[in-house]
Amino acid sequence: MEITLIQEKFRSLYGDGGLVYTSPGRINLIGEHTDYNGGFVLPGAIDKVMYCIIKPNGTSDTIRAYAYDLSESDEFQLDDIPIKGWGKYIFGVCHEMIKRGAEIQGFDTVFSGDVPLGAGMSSSAALESCFGFALNDIYNLGFDRFALAKIGQATEHNYVGVKCGIMDQFASCFGKAGSLIRLDCRSLEYEYIPFNPESYRLVLLNTCVAHELASSAYNKRRESCENAASYIRKYHPEVELLRDATIDMLKEVANEVSAEDYIRAEFVIEEIERMGEACDALKRGDYETVGKKMYETHIGLSRKYEVSCEELDFLNNIARECGVTGSRVMGGGFGGCTINLVKDELHDAFVKRATDAYEQKFRIKPKVYEVVISDGARKL
Ligand code: GLA
Repeated sequence: MEITLIQEKFRSLYGDGGLVYTSPGRINLIGEHTDYNGGFVLPGAIDKVMYCIIKPNGTSDTIRAYAYDLSESDEFQLDDIPIKGWGKYIFGVCHEMIKRGAEIQGFDTVFSGDVPLGAGMSSSAALESCFGFALNDIYNLGFDRFALAKIGQATEHNYVGVKCGIMDQFASCFGKAGSLIRLDCRSLEYEYIPFNPESYRLVLLNTCVAHELASSAYNKRRESCENAASYIRKYHPEVELLRDATIDMLKEVANEVSAEDYIRAEFVIEEIERMGEACDALKRGDYETVGKKMYETHIGLSRKYEVSCEELDFLNNIARECGVTGSRVMGGGFGGCTINLVKDELHDAFVKRATDAYEQKFRIKPKVYEVVISDGARKL
């Protein structure tokens, strides 16, 4: 992405000056829908990012913003709901900061990015972290990266309406080049795990399916998990979240929870365990086991958690047929990408076969992304 183009736009709209900040999207190797259950995840920031250029404009509360990729502008006051959908992210970040005692004044901004929208790579978390990081810096607010991740998450909860976990914003704020992050989503303790698999590549295949009802379906999954945990808690008061539960505990309440909540909870408990096993395998350099676990996750996400779709299952099947080491739907699901761990020598044949077959069946070419594990939010 050409930062100079965005800078030129800023200059033409708002004059000279402006500092540039960037924040990345993320992948997640394994550990899906575990974050809001207090479990573990294994994400990494990627080289697909959002940028913002920002400068205080001397007003007490007027925000003038321009979305470069959409060629759209908006202007709103800090106590006014913005008109444009994307304005909610900026507005939400400001308000979550103000709630935490920050003093923010009016500013001008242009933002842009190459994190594909709706592809499961967390473009919205990248935007939130980018503005969080930028405002924190220009107004010297003193929030640490943990607080910035939580501000991004609260923006989703309170202004966007998605009751997401902390994974995406955490990865965007804490990313480190060449490392995945093993994150305990309850304590927020984390460990960087070097990820440089020689002779393997990570490829994302984007179905280009954007599920309309993704946010309500997502919130419904979360509710199911909380319901199941609350039944288990009646007999095991120490179970705050599904992270604390075992399959045996879940079985004890099988007659009380709905069949749907049961199967969702079963997936989550299994996925937390699977993530631990995959992470151990990764530390040993045992990519075959990592890949096997990824396939198991896909089956769970598709059949038990029901967040896959025909297109994602199709791409996953092709990966299996081609002998790809690991493949699964990535992120919230209902569309977006599969993440594939592919041996170098298989890479070209797999990508060709998957894209050709997909195009033939669904009349649209899936997008292919090779990602590099990169650093988190920063000033440029
Ligand atoms: C979305 C959410 C995350 C996480 C994933 C699924 O990306 O924003 O918090 O729950 O889905 O693992």
